[in-house]
Amino acid sequence: MATDEMPDHWYDDYERGRPGYPEQVVDLAELAPSATALELAAGTGKLTRQLISRFARVVAVEPDPGMRRRLDAGCPGVEAVDGTAERIPLADDVVDAVFVAQAFHWFDNEVALAEIARVLRPGGALVVVWNVANGSVVPSIAAAEELLAPIWPQDSGFPLDMMSGDWAPTAWNLPFAERAFEQIHEVRLANPQTVDAQGLVAYFGSMGWVANLPDEERQPLVGAMRSRLTAAEYVLPWQTRVQWTRLLNGTGRLAR
Ligand SMILES: C[S@@+](CC[C@H](N)C(=O)[O-])C[C@H]1O[C@@H](n2cnc3c(N)ncnc32)[C@H](O)[C@@H]1O
Repeated sequence: MATDEMPDHWYDDYERGRPGYPEQVVDLAELAPSATALELAAGTGKLTRQLISRFARVVAVEPDPGMRRRLDAGCPGVEAVDGTAERIPLADDVVDAVFVAQAFHWFDNEVALAEIARVLRPGGALVVVWNVANGSVVPSIAAAEELLAPIWPQDSGFPLDMMSGDWAPTAWNLPFAERAFEQIHEVRLANPQTVDAQGLVAYFGSMGWVANLPDEERQPLVGAMRSRLTAAEYVLPWQTRVQWTRLLNGTGRLAR
């Protein structure tokens, strides 16, 4: 994802329309409340809010200034800092866990894993999370989706444009990962998202290919979609997929 700022409405739609994460995501690695957690690519703070309610210190790295403004506004107490997964602005061995939600596919896997291993304390956890499309919206939104068909990108999942295909990082097959991390655990969690019609329109508005349309095309499209969504609420049947592991507790630092 580019770190150039998107139009303002995109950030609002992202926060309003995109799904959050089940609470179990935060529990899997059995971290102590006194833990320091680092979140990479924190976005508007969807997972960050859960982390700050659970851990003593949360550092959220996010390269996009528009996302960081929302992080600051919506996550009191978080340390929101500019940076990337490939260049984490922290010292060695300072965090107990690293969380990444819906973003690992944007990273240079090998460089990011080496950075994650550098900042984690030995035995520290790495938790990587995605929401994956897992069925159709209920009730049907075919009448509204039909309006999007002419601009729907060929390579995007239908009807929900999320990670419906190859979502898993190839990072774990890298020699560095095999040396540095324990065996990967994988967990799948149901994560239904209930939204009203405006929330559903925001979800589609959070797709770059809608958000970047000129206003004179986007606004009538969004208005027409809204008028075809007549139910009080809609359920989007996400599945949250989590891969998590720990940094090996070896002697001395890893050769990188
Ligand atoms: C789909 S959003 C996910 C945001 C948030 N984690 C969530 O679950 O809603 C992807 C995020 O990755 C960030 N990002 C893209 N490349 C990155 C990189 N190399 N390092 C850190 N963050 C990156 C983007 O700025 C964006 O906020």
